[in-house]
Amino acid sequence: MKVWFSLLAVIILALTAWVGVEILHLNTLFGIIIPYTAIAVFIGGFIIRVVRWGKSPVPFCITTTCGQQQSLPWIKQNKIENPTNTWGVIWRMVLEVTLFRSLFRNTKTEKIEDKLVFGSAQWLWFGSLVFHWSMLIILLRHLRFFLNPVPGLIIGLESLDSFLQIGVPLLYITDVLLVAALTYLFLRRVMIPNIKYISQIADYFPVLLLLGIAASGILGRYVYGVDVAAVKELTMSLVSFKPTTSTTIGTIFYIHIFLVSSLAVYFPCSKLMHAGGIFLSPTRNLANNSRIERYINPWNYEVEKHHYSEYEDEFRDKMRKVGLPLEKE
Ligand code: HEM
Repeated sequence: MKVWFSLLAVIILALTAWVGVEILHLNTLFGIIIPYTAIAVFIGGFIIRVVRWGKSPVPFCITTTCGQQQSLPWIKQNKIENPTNTWGVIWRMVLEVTLFRSLFRNTKTEKIEDKLVFGSAQWLWFGSLVFHWSMLIILLRHLRFFLNPVPGLIIGLESLDSFLQIGVPLLYITDVLLVAALTYLFLRRVMIPNIKYISQIADYFPVLLLLGIAASGILGRYVYGVDVAAVKELTMSLVSFKPTTSTTIGTIFYIHIFLVSSLAVYFPCSKLMHAGGIFLSPTRNLANNSRIERYINPWNYEVEKHHYSEYEDEFRDKMRKVGLPLEKE
């Protein structure tokens, strides 16, 4: 049910753009107003969530990392896993963000002949890495629509990505990798029973939406041959805040851009915010220096003390009357 609902949602989004542009000719709405609104929601929503996370107090150095912490000189410290200074934290974060280091430790649990067996499972790590890197390269390549002149670095990236020289227009390797990785990530959720059991619409929908974005982009490039010059005119008019509508760009482009806008609006209120959240994760951004530096809980309030001597001063007469022993007569 949850899978079908998510798929239906993506299909309805695509159909909305198709009806809006192909039948109702609402090019301004789908080419200008919706993308602008989506970007505003994305930026505003992203900032609000990061600021809210940033405001949540972390009064103690509560590192819950694995790996040997700095200890006696003859015990080898795991400097990447359990750093004691900021440079170590930066290095751990760089490796986490670029290589998904902690996901590499992913394990699977199986029951084999009535025994619980643990094993490492790297396919999820590999699939996620391929998906994220392909998407990053695709987004960097897309900068050619938003920058004039197009920087040499982007042109170089395009040539590298299409170096296999297959077909006209040239096939981008990242297009194949993106679709393959997303398909794997989706099938993994549908086909592995225990993962399916814990999967929600919030898990299926983003994967299917990204597949929809990739499919519409790929159709636009390889099948319908979108008028790239007209697209560039539109995107340059958008980034220079002098928007002009275009009627020569095919509907498939509007479907693509509408799905991207939907993703942008959905992003800040979804689990996709892990892109920003990773930097605020205490297990990744705290140095384990609690044995080197003294941490004092800033919430500790002054406790009013009432010493025994003061107590005795207050109740001496009463205590004497009932014969209780006194320290001071
Ligand atoms: C999450 C964001 C986006 C993703 C994942 C994405 C993905 C893709 C993919 C996989 C393709 C296939 C060809 C290629 O790789 O270049 C494509 C093509 C295309 N995309 Fe996107 N896209 C995104 C955002 C955008 C935006 C914001 C625009 C606005 C200009 C856009 C415009 C296009 C166009 C015009 C093509 C056809 C390119 C060509 O014919 O060479 N895309 N997109």
